[in-house]
Amino acid sequence: VVRIGILGTARIARLFMGGSLRNARFTAIASRSSERAESFAREFGLERWYGSYDDLLADPNLDAVYIPLPHFLHAEFSLRAARAGKHVLVEKPAALSSAEFLQMWNACREGGVVLMESLMYRCKRIHLRVQELIREGAIGNVRHLNFSWCFPVMTLGRSRFRLDHPAGGALNDVGIYGADFLRLILGSDLKVISGGIWRASPGGVDLLAHALCSSPGSTASLTCGYLLDANYYVVGGERGSIYVPGSVSGRIAENLLRVHRIEDDRWDEERFAPENPYHALADHFGEVIEGRVEPLIRQEQTLANLRMLEDIRRLATEWTVAERGSITAPPSAGTR
Ligand SMILES: NC(=O)c1ccc[n+]([C@@H]2O[C@H](COP(=O)([O-])OP(=O)(O)OC[C@H]3O[C@@H](n4cnc5c(N)ncnc54)[C@H](OP(=O)(O)O)[C@@H]3O)[C@@H](O)[C@H]2O)c1
Repeated sequence: VVRIGILGTARIARLFMGGSLRNARFTAIASRSSERAESFAREFGLERWYGSYDDLLADPNLDAVYIPLPHFLHAEFSLRAARAGKHVLVEKPAALSSAEFLQMWNACREGGVVLMESLMYRCKRIHLRVQELIREGAIGNVRHLNFSWCFPVMTLGRSRFRLDHPAGGALNDVGIYGADFLRLILGSDLKVISGGIWRASPGGVDLLAHALCSSPGSTASLTCGYLLDANYYVVGGERGSIYVPGSVSGRIAENLLRVHRIEDDRWDEERFAPENPYHALADHFGEVIEGRVEPLIRQEQTLANLRMLEDIRRLATEWTVAERGSITAPPSAGTR
């Protein structure tokens, strides 16, 4: 069983706690404050806690670390973990750029440790089922994918780093899921054709972004943002389509998909009981480290996803929300 330490008492780290994992176990946590680390450890029954991230990295009784730090610290602590000989599960986006990720990947290769991005949605049964339906030919050849993940950022409360430029922004935060899913379903030929980015202010953090993509056989669109609520995807095929509302997020609730089959104009519905994808992901990470399965989220894919975000930034037309008039920036979103 792989022993994992956590860097930071992040909100998201709480969702990893409490599962009955077979291949991994969370045994330690570090925080910038030893009181916060101790309180987290006591609440969730972790064996050890540290008042500094470096102290946790030096713990010889840990095999791996989980890094749910703000985006701008992912690369730095992945590099430090690799040098300390610890396997790395790093929250999304794994890095702020493809160049940064290449450094992390090299360091992990040199250190002989696994590097995996924590894209929890990959472990949810509903999305695995969508991939199975597509493979089974339920909707024929896939020709279009429309993916959107937008949420009103202020509902998260503690979200300062999401609104700080350049590490924050909707593309880094939720656009990364769209890049991953589009490429997972439509393949690596998919290219960004054009896009739009609405920033809080000129040069400020992106609050809303979209991209149009094409490959020789398909079209796709990706929308992500902080200013509205829209979480769904639609996969369009030659013989039908699959509609998935509201289930890309990690919210632990019932999930639902609908399949339309053109042949007999039939709608089938499938429901999935609430599940915790974070437990499944941690268990999968443990299994990958033990060498028993191939990683669901490969480094090549993470690198290509980051390059796709870079293409969107390069090709997009830019506006500020002020120019849009009817769109309101959340309080304090701007350029630092
Ligand atoms: N997979 C998912 O479903 C999912 C969902 C939400 C978020 N995330 C990702 O998880 C990561 C954390 O997100 P979160 O919402 O959980 O964030 P959060 O609650 O703000 O946690 C971030 C943690 O990082 C530590 N930290 C170190 N330096 C910091 C700094 N300068 N400013 C703020 N925090 C600092 C803090 O821990 P200490 O104070 O204890 O040191 C803090 O608790 C992000 O990469 C985010 O994109 C993933």
